[in-house]
Amino acid sequence: MPSIYLDNAATSFPKPPAVAEAMLRYMQENGASVNRGVYASAQEAGMTALLLREELCRLFRHGDPAHCVLTSGNTMGLNMVLRGWLRPGDHCLVSAMEHNAVMRPLQALAENGVTFDRVPCDGQGRMDPEDLRRLIRPNTRLVLIAHGSNVGGGVQDAAAVGKICRAYGIPFVLDAAQTAGHWEIDFDGWGLSALSAPGHKGLMGPSGIGVLLLAPEFARGLTPIVTGGTGSASDLEVQPMYMPDRFESGTPNLPGIYGLEAAAAFILRTGVPVLQAHETDMTGRLLDRLREIPYIRIAGPRERYSRVGVVSVDFQEADNAEAAFRLEKAYGILTRCGLHCAPAAHRTLGTFPQGTVRLSPGWFTTAAEVDAAAAAIAEIACGKGFRKNS
Ligand SMILES: Cc1ncc(COP(=O)(O)O)c(C=O)c1O
Repeated sequence: MPSIYLDNAATSFPKPPAVAEAMLRYMQENGASVNRGVYASAQEAGMTALLLREELCRLFRHGDPAHCVLTSGNTMGLNMVLRGWLRPGDHCLVSAMEHNAVMRPLQALAENGVTFDRVPCDGQGRMDPEDLRRLIRPNTRLVLIAHGSNVGGGVQDAAAVGKICRAYGIPFVLDAAQTAGHWEIDFDGWGLSALSAPGHKGLMGPSGIGVLLLAPEFARGLTPIVTGGTGSASDLEVQPMYMPDRFESGTPNLPGIYGLEAAAAFILRTGVPVLQAHETDMTGRLLDRLREIPYIRIAGPRERYSRVGVVSVDFQEADNAEAAFRLEKAYGILTRCGLHCAPAAHRTLGTFPQGTVRLSPGWFTTAAEVDAAAAAIAEIACGKGFRKNS
C-alpha cells in the first residue's frame, strides 16, 4: 500500500530533489567549515552560506543579509529572542494560539519576574489586533505571535500588528513556522523586529537548521544566549559585536546550509504565490470534502483563503488517536494526532484535551491523495465497530 503523506505541518516531505543532492555533494566533495579556513573548499562553503542568507532575505524582504542569522531550528530562534531580550520586570504579549516553543521559554522566564498576557483569539483562532492594543502596558517590551496556526491553520494579520507595535515602539517578533515558504512575508514592510522560521517545514530544507532574521536596532539590544568561537576576531575572549557572528557561535550545520540553500533557490525559482496557490487548492478541496462528512468537526477556519494548509479534524464518535492509527494502518495515510505541542491553541479552538487529527497537504500533494484521505475519513467517521461508544 503506497503511503500518502499529509503531515507537512510537522515537516515537509518529500523535499525537492536538489536538497538531498546538495547535501550529498557537500558531504562527499567539500566537507569544509565556514570562517575557519582559507582553502578553496572552505571559501566555497562560506559563499554558500552567504548565498543562503541573500536568498532568505529576498524571500522575506529583509534588506541586510548580515542580519540573517542561521540557527539550529525554529525553537532555538524563538528561545534566542525570548531569553535574549526579556528581563525581570518586562511584560510580553503573545496570542492565545502559541506553540510550546514560545510558551515553555516564556513560562520559564515567568519564574524570573517576566510577565505575559495572551491576546484572546476567536473560535477560529484569529486575533483582533485591537485586542492586542488594549493589553499593552507601560512595561510591554515584546510582542511575539505565531503567524500561522499549526493547529487550525488560521493566519494572523501581521501587518496590522506591526503597525500597532511600531506606534508604541514595541519590538514585534513573528513565529513564521507555518507561513515561511507558504505565504508572502514582508519583514521590512511589516516593521518586524525579528522573524524565526525552521528550515524543514515550508522552506522544504532539512531539519536541524533555521533562520532568525533580525532588524539591526533589535539585534543591537539582543543578548546572545550562546557564545563561543565564531572563527572571527579570534584574538578576543569576548563575543564579537558584528553580525551575524554575534549570534552564530560554534561550527554550523554545513550539510543543512547546503540543503537549505538548494531549497531556498527552489522556492525563489518557483515563487511563493505558485506554492501558495497549490496549497490553497489542495486545502480547499480537502475542506470541501470534509464538510460533507458527518460525525466530525473541523477545528479552525473552514474556508480555503486567509489560512495555511493545516486542517484539524475532531472525530465526534471515534477516538482521534485511534482514527489516526487507522488512517495509517488501513489506508496508508500519514497524519498527526494529539495536541501538536500547542495546548493553548486547542483550548482556544475547543479541542482540549482530546486534540485533533491534523492533515496538512504540501507542494507535492495531489488531488487524488486529498480525495483518498477524505474518503478514508468518511469511512472511519461513519464506520461500524469504530465508534467511541460502540
Ligand atoms: C507555530 C510553530 N511554532 C514553533 C514550532 C517549532 O518548530 P521546530 O520544532 O521546527 O523547532 C512549530 C513546529 O511545529 C510550530 O508549528
